[in-house]
Amino acid sequence: MKKINYLRVSVTDRCNFRCRYCMPEGTKEFIPHPEILRYEEITEIVKVFTEFGIDSVRLTGGEPLVRKGIENLIAQIRELKEIEDISLTTNGYLLSEKARSLKEHGLDRVNISIDTLKPKKFAFITGTGDINALSKVLLGLKKAIEKGLEPVKVNTVLIKGFNDEEIESFIKLSEDYGVEVRFIELMPVGGKFFSKENFISIASIKEKIEKEFGKLIPAQTKKNGPAKSFIVEGTNARIGFIPSISEHFCDSCNRVRLTSDGKLRLCLMSDKEVNLKSVIRNPEYKRHHLRKAIAEALLKKSGINGIEALESLGCSRKMFTIGG
Ligand code: 5AD
Ligand code: SF4
Repeated sequence: MKKINYLRVSVTDRCNFRCRYCMPEGTKEFIPHPEILRYEEITEIVKVFTEFGIDSVRLTGGEPLVRKGIENLIAQIRELKEIEDISLTTNGYLLSEKARSLKEHGLDRVNISIDTLKPKKFAFITGTGDINALSKVLLGLKKAIEKGLEPVKVNTVLIKGFNDEEIESFIKLSEDYGVEVRFIELMPVGGKFFSKENFISIASIKEKIEKEFGKLIPAQTKKNGPAKSFIVEGTNARIGFIPSISEHFCDSCNRVRLTSDGKLRLCLMSDKEVNLKSVIRNPEYKRHHLRKAIAEALLKKSGINGIEALESLGCSRKMFTIGG
């Protein structure tokens, strides 16, 4: 296990989309508002985490931009001098309106999820039924670049028979906008959408790209998450790959996750959680209580192997309650 320096914070489990691989159809149950951490509570938790070496924070959801006043949380985290990088993962639907104010409040960069570049398919996979949703998201992408929320990255979950014929369009998107497109393996996290039939491996997509478009040349990366980045030879396209399933990257895992209801999740795949909300909401709360809880939790992380957890079906939470 690597040094843990990266904290993902889910600020809400709610979302204005209903992506089929994320929110099972008919999802109506959300975490009641009083159970969701307040911004001050999140900031206090992040503050204590900086004492343990956290210097990068990513805000996720659900959809983080549907939570009111998200800019205020960003501004609070920006005040913490130990935090070098604040990023946000969004479906992009509200981004064209919010990009400017997000930047002004201290957000560094965004990742935008786009699984298909065909408006009808986009309306289907996001469960919005909105034929204009894709163009709204693409406008958000453009605005994010314009306002300097860079480097902007696009996340694309690979779904066999659905978007694996669109590789060329994604290469073009990368060239046209100057953004990295990262292909992610579909994960069987909650829900019933996942099946062997719609799973497509990173290895086969790499092979397809090399055969049809050009050699993949390893690119320099600054942020070393699980993605490996490449330039497609003969183009300006920058493509990343996240082999969530087929490669075991537990050894290089540098992250922990905070759910919107205040549980510290040590591994995406494992249900081992530590309740930080109960610590912070204790009327007798003092900062050293949180310090102790986090120190104990981080010790436990070293004993986890996510692939084992996945094989024993240890992950019962749905993706939208964890935030990827
Ligand atoms: N498999 C892979 N990626 C997923 N995401 C959500 N659910 C899944 C899944 N089942 C991704 C979204 C987004 C990020 C928050 O998590 O596409 O990019
Ligand atoms: Fe919402 Fe993101 Fe889940 Fe889609 S993947 S439903 S945008 S949280």
